[in-house]
Amino acid sequence: MKDYKYKVFTDAIEKHISTGLLKPGDKLPSARSIKKEYQLSISSVQNGYDYLIYKGLVRSLPRSGYIVNYQSYKASASHSPDLKAIPRDSVFRENIFLTSQQKQHTEVANLNAAVPSDLLIPQKLVLRTMQQVIREKGAALLRYYPTNGTEELRELVAKRQVLHGAIIQKDETIITDGALQALYIALAVTTNPNDIIAVESPCVFSVLEVIANLKLRTIEIPLKNYNTFDTDHLADACQKNDIKSIVVTPNFHNPTGILMTDETKQKLYNIASSREIPIIENDIYGDLYFTGSRPTTIRNYDQQGLVITVSSFSKTLAPGIRLGWLAAGRYFSAAERLKFSLGRSVSPLNQEVVAKLLSTSSYDRHLRKFRRQLELQAIKLANHIHQFFPETTYTTIPQGGYSIWTQLAPGTDMLAFYKTCEKFGVNFTPGNTFSFTNNYDNCFRTVFSNHLTPESLNAIERIGQSLSH
Ligand SMILES: Cc1ncc(COP(=O)(O)O)c(C=O)c1O
Repeated sequence: MKDYKYKVFTDAIEKHISTGLLKPGDKLPSARSIKKEYQLSISSVQNGYDYLIYKGLVRSLPRSGYIVNYQSYKASASHSPDLKAIPRDSVFRENIFLTSQQKQHTEVANLNAAVPSDLLIPQKLVLRTMQQVIREKGAALLRYYPTNGTEELRELVAKRQVLHGAIIQKDETIITDGALQALYIALAVTTNPNDIIAVESPCVFSVLEVIANLKLRTIEIPLKNYNTFDTDHLADACQKNDIKSIVVTPNFHNPTGILMTDETKQKLYNIASSREIPIIENDIYGDLYFTGSRPTTIRNYDQQGLVITVSSFSKTLAPGIRLGWLAAGRYFSAAERLKFSLGRSVSPLNQEVVAKLLSTSSYDRHLRKFRRQLELQAIKLANHIHQFFPETTYTTIPQGGYSIWTQLAPGTDMLAFYKTCEKFGVNFTPGNTFSFTNNYDNCFRTVFSNHLTPESLNAIERIGQSLSH
C-alpha cells in the first residue's frame, strides 16, 4: 500500500524516540520548519503530528508546539477483566434496547451506532450502479435468484479472499442478508441449544443477541490488556468444558478496534483444531485497515474446513444493502439448508450491484479513500479523549474498523457520567451491553464513523473535563 506523505518525517521522529535520541519532554520541530525541510503541505505535517499523537508518542502543548510524550497510551493502565472460564446463560443484565436505542433528537454527537455516516457512504457510486443494473437487467431482477446467491458474486467474493491468502471456494460461499444472518447460520449449524460456546469479551451486543436467541451458554474469553485475545484462557476453557464453537472478530474487533496478530491467529487455530472445534470468524472490518496491508484471516491457516468466515458489505459500502456472506467449509450442506429456510434469496438488485462494484476497480478505489477518512477520524477522536479525559482513563488505539473502547477509573459514577453525556447531547454505547457479565460497567464504546464536528469535539472535551472535578 502507498505510504502517507507524512511518513518521511514521522518515521524519523519515531526512530529517534525508539533509539532514545529524543527523550520524553524534548521539544519537536515546529510544523512550519517541517513543512520547509520536507517540502510538505501544512495539512500533511498536521496529519503527521496527529498520527504521532494518536500513537501516544507525541503531545501537543497549547501555544508551545509539540513535545515527546511522557507516557505513551500503551503504558497507561488497563485492567483486564477478571473472567473465569465458566459457562454462563446468555442473558443481558440490562434491557439492551434501553441502552442501545438512545434519544435521537438532541444529539450533538451520535457516537454510538457502528454505521457509516451518510457523508462516508459512497452514495453516488451505489445509486448510479443501481440505476445501471436496473437498465441492464430489467424485469429479471424481479424473479427469485439462486438461494446461495449468484455464481458471479460468490466467485468475486471468494477470489477477493485469495488476495490476502485465504483459500475460499465459491461453492462453499453463501450470500446472506448481512453478516448477522451469516453468523446466525454459522452458529446454528455448529451448535444445539444449551451448548457451550467461547466468545471474545467484550463482544458487540448484536452478536451477543444472536447467541442469546440460539439459547447457547457462553464462556467469555478476555482480550488481555485490551490488546490481544487470551489464547491461554481459551486453552484452559477448552480443557475444562465441551466447547462446541468459538466466535471471534480477529480483524479490528468491535468495540476495541484491535487487530489479532498472525501468531495469535495461528495459536487460536491450533487450540481449536486439536479438538475439532469450529471457529466462526467475523471479518466484517477486515478491509478497513489503517496502515500496512489487508490482514490475514484465521481461514488462512485452515486446511480442514473448520473455520467459517462471515462478513458483509454493511461497514464498507452501506448497511441498507443487506448483503453479507459466509464461507461454510465442512458445514456447507447444513448451512445451505438453513439459508433456504430463512428466505429464498437476497435481493437480486443488491447482488448485481455489489457484483458490478467488485468486478471493477470502484470498490477498491472507494475503500482507499474511506480507510483514510476513518483513520483521520480515529486519530482525532482518540487524541481528544486522551487529551481531555482524566489520566486514569485507558483508551484503545484502533488499527482499523469503526470504534474505540474507553475504560474509566474503577468506581467512576457511571450514572452521573451518562447524565453528563445526555446534557451535552453525546451518545456513547455503555460498556455493560458488550458482555453477559458486569465487567465493563466503567467502559464505553465510541464510534468514529460519523462526522466529527468542532461542536461534537467540544462536547467530548467538556464531558472529559467533568470527570476531573
Ligand atoms: C462485529 C459485527 N458483526 C456484525 C454486525 C452486523 O452486520 P450486518 O449489518 O452486515 O448484519 C456488526 C455491526 O454492527 C458488527 O460490528
